[in-house]
Formats: sequence, structure tokens, C-alpha cells
Amino acid sequence: MYNIENDIEKILVSEAELKAICDDLAAKLTEEYGESGRDLILVCILKGSIMFASEVFKRLRFPCAIEFMKVSSYGAGTNTSGFIQVHLDLKRDVKDADVVILEDIVDSGRTLEKLSHLLANRGAHSVKCCTLLDKPERRQVNFNADYVGKAVPDVFVVGFGLDYDEKYRNLPYVGVLKPSVYQQ
Ligand code: IMP
Ligand code: MG
Repeated sequence: MYNIENDIEKILVSEAELKAICDDLAAKLTEEYGESGRDLILVCILKGSIMFASEVFKRLRFPCAIEFMKVSSYGAGTNTSGFIQVHLDLKRDVKDADVVILEDIVDSGRTLEKLSHLLANRGAHSVKCCTLLDKPERRQVNFNADYVGKAVPDVFVVGFGLDYDEKYRNLPYVGVLKPSVYQQ
């Protein structure tokens, strides 16, 4: 059997650390939204955030909903000339709701910068971003997530939802791919 774990050079965020990160982020969301009295809608960005979003969601004990979006961002330069393409949209109105976007990783920052504006323009009471991983060195626009699980160096990571060519999402940890995998 071809075991995808053999393609991993090293584990960057272990299962135990991922659990601790999700505990911590869920506690922070509970502190901020647990007694707000408003609807909270978590927006899971497909596909990379599926594991992260479900881990955070199942730790919350106050009423909240989860919705899904699939988006991609385009555009060059550091201005707002780029745009966001929505491949799958929310099935629910976010007007007057608190929205927390759950993302796997912030890289250039374009996706979340544009998506948070889009949802704010739909009349959400508030829009915040919660990301599992952050690569601050890669930022190309002036965007920072409100909640960050862990900052990582500028290396390509896979696992726990994150893919390379649609593979490795099913690994239970976040790891760095062996260079030989790209060079094939
Ligand atoms: P950006 O912040 O708009 O540049 O885009 C972030 C998106 O790029 C993430 O949601 C991921 O889908 C993808 N991405 C960025 N870095 C990585 C990585 O190291 N591994 C896997 N996907 C990545
Ligand atoms: Mg993604």
C-alpha cells in the first residue's frame, strides 16, 4: 500500500498540539460570543477547513450555526483590484448575525480580506476571522486574522484538511512535504 505518511518530511503541528490549539480557540470564541444574545454563524471555508472547523464547532456549548463556503481569490498587486470568486455560497442570511470565518491557513491574506468585506457588506453585525495557521511572512495585503492558532514559517504544509494536489487532507496532523514529492 502507498502510505501517504511516507511523503512527510516532518510533523509541524502534532495531533496533541492541534487539540490544544482548538481547545484554546474554542475558549476564546466562547468568551467573546457565549453570552452575546445574537446569532453566531461559523463559516467553514471548504475544503481546507473541514477538520479544523469541526474540531472547534464541537467544543462550543452555546447556540451557534455552521455554514459552508467555497471561494478562491484572484488579483495581482497589493491593492484591492483582485476579486473573490464564490463557488459555493452560504445557505443562510448573515444579516445582523455575528460571523466567524474559520480558515485553514492565511497566506497572502487575499482570501480572507475579500471574504470578510463580502460578508460585512451583506449586513452582518460583525465579521471576524479565525485561522488555524498563519504564514505572516507571506502577506501581500494588509490583513490579520482576529484569532490565530499557530504561526508557521514559509513552508508548504499539508494535513488536517490542507492539501497538495487534493492529497494529504486526511492526515491527522500538519506536516511538511518532502521536496521529492513536488519534484516528481
Ligand atoms: P491567501 O491567504 O488568499 O493567499 O490563500 C490562502 C489559501 O491558500 C488557503 O486557504 C489554502 O487553501 C492555500 N494555502 C496557502 N498556503 C498553503 C499551504 O502551505 N498548504 C496548503 N494550502 C495552502
Ligand atoms: Mg483554503
